[in-house]
Amino acid sequence: MKKKAISLFLAAAMAATMMAGCGGDNKEADAPAADAGAQADAGETTPDAEPAAGTEAADAGDAAADAAGDTDLANKKVGVCIYQFSDNFMTLFRTELENYLVSQGFSADNITIVDGANDQATQTGQIDNFITDKVDVLIINPVNSSSAETITDKVVEAGIPLVYINREPDEAEQKRWADNDWNVTYVGCDARQSGTFQGEMISDLGLDAVDFNGNGKVDYIMVEGDPENVDAQYRTEFSIKALTDAGLEVECLSDQVGNWQQDQAQQIVANALGQYGNDVEVVFCNNDAMALGALQAIQSAGRTVGTDIYLVGVDALSEALEDVLAGTMTGTVFNDHFSQSHSAADAAVNYIKGAGNEHYIGCDYVKVTAENAQEILDMVK
Ligand code: GAL
Repeated sequence: MKKKAISLFLAAAMAATMMAGCGGDNKEADAPAADAGAQADAGETTPDAEPAAGTEAADAGDAAADAAGDTDLANKKVGVCIYQFSDNFMTLFRTELENYLVSQGFSADNITIVDGANDQATQTGQIDNFITDKVDVLIINPVNSSSAETITDKVVEAGIPLVYINREPDEAEQKRWADNDWNVTYVGCDARQSGTFQGEMISDLGLDAVDFNGNGKVDYIMVEGDPENVDAQYRTEFSIKALTDAGLEVECLSDQVGNWQQDQAQQIVANALGQYGNDVEVVFCNNDAMALGALQAIQSAGRTVGTDIYLVGVDALSEALEDVLAGTMTGTVFNDHFSQSHSAADAAVNYIKGAGNEHYIGCDYVKVTAENAQEILDMVK
């Protein structure tokens, strides 16, 4: 596990500039919450690992105060907030997180995972409930990273250690954790790396292979995830930066927000293909769910990936890996939910045991092309 130095401020400002750079049409707000979805969904999978044998029973009290006392994980309560259960990648993440927590000695009955239904107010209510319930540690995938300050304040005030996952709070927020020596950390990968890998998979093909319309440029469309999310910002920026760093000229035909959703991406790409036709040479999607939607649109338009268009995503969903193997996707990037969920659980354990954590815990992405897609598929299946 590597700790990465980050300079989010500068990069976020650059990302904002980039995102405005290609028309910026049809920037939609987040989809509304599908339903209230606020109820706790405890122990929806029951993994086979044995809970650790108890050493001593103790109160399920404040974890920070427990450091020198009861550290029997089987007695500890874990609250997990996921921004939206219907997100494909976060489903892989939370399933692995729960399995791993149990394998480390937590009782499945003491792990409560809730669906924020993509609504910050819903999630804030869930956090309040976890505080009232005196959980020993919270693992939070915020709906809005910009709400992190408010979330941190109330969780720290309650004396509960906090592990943020997947949606990275900004640099100023992370600095507060360090300055105040709070038991708060973030676990995630550096999204710049995933964007760079996407761009490299295209630049490695060489201009001649990509420049179907012969204008000397890589003409592309970009389909972005939630614009508030640094993963979307960095992937958008760094995929194109990798092309220009490789000396390629680029032309952005369309840059729109698909909110990580397959159906939204399908519509966006269908429209863009209708508007720009054969000039679209590359479709960049900030994640695989959207790449799968893009592929539907590409196929409906009678285009063929690898022959007259290229398509890349991020996450390494098994369906996308099968497409990479079949040649219907050019490549993807493995967003390692094993490593991220295990690190998040390990960080939670460290807090419970009083060991503490760094305030940023990183992991690496893996570039996936037809050459290694089977290997990654064997791992994720
Ligand atoms: C990203 C992932 C997306 C989506 C998003 C949610 O890391 O690539 O598919 O899950 O997180 O925040």
